Amino acid sequence: MDRPTVLITGTGSYLPNKCLTNHDLSLMVDTTDEWIQARTGILERRIAAPGELTSDLAVQAARQAMAAAEIGPTDLDLILVATTTPDLVFPSTATFVQQKLGANVIQIPAFDIQAVCSGFIYALTVAEKFITAGSCRRVLVIGAETFSRIVNWEDRNTCILFGDGAGAVILEAGPPSPDSASKRGILATHIHADGGYAHLLNATGGVSKGAEEGLDPRIKGVGFVQMRGNEVFKQAVKVLGSIVDQTLAASGYNQADIDWLVPHQANIRIIESTAKRLGMDMNKVIVTVDRHGNTSAASIPLALDQAVRDGRIQRGHLVMLEAFGGGFTWGSALLRW
Ligand code: UT7
Repeated sequence: MDRPTVLITGTGSYLPNKCLTNHDLSLMVDTTDEWIQARTGILERRIAAPGELTSDLAVQAARQAMAAAEIGPTDLDLILVATTTPDLVFPSTATFVQQKLGANVIQIPAFDIQAVCSGFIYALTVAEKFITAGSCRRVLVIGAETFSRIVNWEDRNTCILFGDGAGAVILEAGPPSPDSASKRGILATHIHADGGYAHLLNATGGVSKGAEEGLDPRIKGVGFVQMRGNEVFKQAVKVLGSIVDQTLAASGYNQADIDWLVPHQANIRIIESTAKRLGMDMNKVIVTVDRHGNTSAASIPLALDQAVRDGRIQRGHLVMLEAFGGGFTWGSALLRW
């Protein structure tokens, strides 16, 4: 039997109201607007309100995506939430989202995926497999984070980088494609991990390790983000080019065929370097890092939704998504819109 295609039929996103500018940060730690802009490209980021949870951000983005796809919560077969900042240790944030959307009445499966900044690409990859295997017809895939809750607001190396937000897509099974040239939807995905780099980027504490004796009581539980930024930067630049090439080769396209690059938004210099390696002009790259900062698993679906809604990404365009994050984890996905 021919496998169905996997179409993105709706996108949505949500940003909390509170905006934290570089100037605001310069009053909190020893930094300047000039330094942050020059080294990262970030101007401002959003911060979730007290009591506003990752699942709340996720639900707002999901509602928009469902409206765009013209479906309701009971049309879904599966909910995946990519997050590193879940509401609780358990149950999963996806089950909270399912309940808040009212999809619990049909008792569809819901679970979280943890791959830090690559989480959305990981979740997209998993969802695609469920659809091509014939297990699901409609999957809600969300990237949602409240990274502000695990940032050490006294550490200038990291607190300037992160923001909160959520983005979502609806994936739906489409008719099998007669040939690869006319195929729409997800064309190829690749994901990787190398656990040998955890020491360069991690959050201190945690359930099992955080309960060990001798840890600072503040980092028992969730802990704080810590990063050797320069070393992470070099590795990100190195692997992002090769992962994009891998996904292009698997689907028979060349760098020149890509209409839009939607990268993970960690640092404008990493984004520029990947674009340069692909020979892409920056006006073909969707950039939100200036206004959102690094929203981890939410950054790609947030950027995608922005570019779909403002009309840059249009039907027929070839779109490359790529991400790199803690683990290390990395991945890419090629789509025909
Ligand atoms: O999303 C997951 C993946 N994450 C990433 O991809 C992030 C990758 N890393 C980066 O984006 C960059 O490495 C940073 C933006 C984090 C740092 O930029 P950098 O150009 O790599 O700077 P650096 O870490 O080499 O630090 C340069 C200097 C240091 O001072 P000294 O030792 O040269 O005197 C830092 O102490 O900048 C100093 N510095 C700051 N100065 C002002 C570090 N943070 C700040 C700050 N304000 N906020």
